[in-house]
Amino acid sequence: MNRRETLTAMLALGAGACTGLPAPKDEQAPTGTNFSAAVPYIPTRPEIVDAMLDLGAVGAKDVVYDLGCGDGRIVIAAAKRFGASGLGVDIQPDVIAMAESQAHWEGVTNRVKFALHDLFDLDLRPATVVMLYLSVELNLRLRPKLLAELHPGSRIVSNRFDMADVWRPTRSIVVADTPIHLWRVGAGV
Ligand SMILES: C[S@@+](CC[C@H](N)C(=O)[O-])C[C@H]1O[C@@H](n2cnc3c(N)ncnc32)[C@H](O)[C@@H]1O
Repeated sequence: MNRRETLTAMLALGAGACTGLPAPKDEQAPTGTNFSAAVPYIPTRPEIVDAMLDLGAVGAKDVVYDLGCGDGRIVIAAAKRFGASGLGVDIQPDVIAMAESQAHWEGVTNRVKFALHDLFDLDLRPATVVMLYLSVELNLRLRPKLLAELHPGSRIVSNRFDMADVWRPTRSIVVADTPIHLWRVGAGV
């Protein structure tokens, strides 16, 4: 078990202790102690993280935001693989603590930051790439803000969830049975 898996397991044990529920067995189960989040913490699998970064064509000049960042693995991977900078926000304090700890461990605190923050209150203008793993409903609630604040050419990448017929993706792929969607701001909105 590597360090990230150990931290994730500790979060899972915390969830079990607080709720009386058994600890989650795999990545598809919710973890963390705050179950008031409309979307629970479910980490993106490593191969999907890589595919999301590739679909978003992330590069060294990009500023990658993960809205609902969990343990921060997407922005940390963007910094490590491509030298990008990034910000992750989440409304669960325990996952933000985990993301900050992991960024220290990976040596990328000069490029990535994490904050306890509601994604709907965040200024998105600095972002060039926005990562999502939320739900169709939250994506649709977020859409007007994305369109108002992101610059033309910015990319939005969503693990699993699209925006129904309201905003068709620029491109969709399937990796390990998981759909991943890309929207390019200013392209056929
Ligand atoms: C499915 S997890 C994805 C975690 C991470 N992005 C990943 O892909 O590994 C969704 C995360 O969104 C967070 N979240 C839900 N609603 C939020 C909100 N309004 N503001 C910030 N974070 C939120 C949850 O706490 C949870 O950690």
